[in-house]
Amino acid sequence: MKGLFITLEGPEGAGKSTQARMLAEWLQKQGREVVLTREPGGTELGQALRRLILTHPMRPETEFLLYSADRAEHAATVIRPALKRGAVVVSDRWLDSSLAYQGYGRGLPIAWLRAVSQGFLGDLWPDLTFLLYLPPRLGLWRARHRRGTLEPDRFEEEELAFHERVLEGFFELARGEPERFVKVSVEKPRAEEVHRRLVEELRARGLV
Ligand code: TMP
Repeated sequence: MKGLFITLEGPEGAGKSTQARMLAEWLQKQGREVVLTREPGGTELGQALRRLILTHPMRPETEFLLYSADRAEHAATVIRPALKRGAVVVSDRWLDSSLAYQGYGRGLPIAWLRAVSQGFLGDLWPDLTFLLYLPPRLGLWRARHRRGTLEPDRFEEEELAFHERVLEGFFELARGEPERFVKVSVEKPRAEEVHRRLVEELRARGLV
C-alpha cells in the first residue's frame, strides 16, 4: 500500500493536536498503519530541541536552524521510513510552520528557508495539508487558556501583529499550492465537526 503524508498546520489555539489525534484514530480504524507525530519533538532528540527552542530567546536564524535540525532528524528517522512501509503519517506541523513563523512572522527570506530545507528534505512533500485557521486573537486566547497543563511557549507571548503575519503567511502558502492545502475554519465548529470535515476531504480525494 502506498504511504500517505498528511500534515496539520495553523496558528496558535487552532486545535491541531486534537484533530491530528482524532484523524490518526479514525485512519487506524480503517485498517491503516498510522504514525502520529509532530514538529518540533517527533524524535527523542527533537524533544530536547523543542524544550530548547520554546524556552530560550534566540536569533530568528538560530530558531529556524533548530527547527530544521528537528525536521531533518524527524524526516530521516520517522517520516521517510514510515512512508516507505506504506503507513499514513499524520504530522502536527511541518515545514510550512517554519515558512509562516520564521519567514512571514520573523521576516527571514522565504527563498533561503526553502533552499536550506530542500537540502535535507529532497522530494519529501505532504500529499495533503489541512490548514486550520481562526482569528489570531481568539486563537491566542484559547492557547493561553490551556496554559498550566502545558509547557511554556515563547510564541504565545509574541504580540498580536506577529500572529497576524503568521496567519497571513499560511494563507499565502495555501494560495501558492491550492491542490495540497485544504483550509478549514475552526472559529466556531466543535472538534467533532472539524474532524468530519477532514474525513470528508480524504474521502473526496480518494485517499482512503
Ligand atoms: P506547537 O505548540 O504547535 O507544538 O508548536 C510549538 C511552537 O513552535 C508554535 O508556537 C509554533 C512554533 N513553530 C515555529 O515557529 N516554526 C516551526 O517550524 C514549527 C514546527 C513550530
